[in-house]
Amino acid sequence: MKVFLKIALLCSLSAAAWGAEENFEQANVETTLPAIKRGADEVMGNCHACHTLKYIKYRDLVALGISQAKVDGWRGDEPMDAPLKAQMSEADAMAAFNKVPPDLSLMSQARDGGVNYLYSYLIGYFNKPDGTLSNHIFAETKMPDMLGMSNATDEVQKTAIKAKARDIVSFLNWTTDPHAAERIQLGKYVIAYLIVITTLLYLVKRQIWARIKYK
Ligand code: HEC
Repeated sequence: MKVFLKIALLCSLSAAAWGAEENFEQANVETTLPAIKRGADEVMGNCHACHTLKYIKYRDLVALGISQAKVDGWRGDEPMDAPLKAQMSEADAMAAFNKVPPDLSLMSQARDGGVNYLYSYLIGYFNKPDGTLSNHIFAETKMPDMLGMSNATDEVQKTAIKAKARDIVSFLNWTTDPHAAERIQLGKYVIAYLIVITTLLYLVKRQIWARIKYK
């Protein structure tokens, strides 16, 4: 009976967790290069003013396939191996928001709900009846509505903003593991190597055993 109760409790707990997840809009992140590159443009244009991406270096962006000229424009005097610093100093951020905006490199994994949280937060801004800005996901957030969702009046604008948010989240999903693509490529070579070596060893084994006669 006790076991039965435990199982029932576990089921209801996981159902509660599932329910919480369902409040988020689905980000449907893309892992294709064009989407990640568009997201990089957005993040460097819209987010990098206030946020750092301390685990990403300018060199990683070139390795991703973004042109050197564009990365040079973003990095200014910073070396290629410097991490992506926010343009705003921490002191200025404290003065403006009374808070230093958090680093974004691992942000798409940092909150419950992951990429869906991030996406829902970016598109979650709206104006309350009294005219003040709020957010469905984080009501009291000090971050301005960077993508302009609270001012969008028609579906066309909203769809365009959602597409931007999806690209941003796709890029921030890449930043959590920028070397994933290289690893997958290397994995393919390793598997091909193992297939070749297994075949060769099998042929050698057959040759050796062919010489042994059974009575
Ligand atoms: C003008 C400065 C500014 C810009 C530009 C900006 N942010 Fe923020 N951001 C903030 C501040 C300030 C906070 C802290 C909010 C808080 O805790 O109230 C924040 C917090 C966040 C958080 C964390 C929310 C949480 O759950 O704690 C995320 C994610 C985020 N920003 C993403 C972005 C993205 C993506 C962009 C670009 C589209 C962006 N920000 C542009 C100032 C900025």
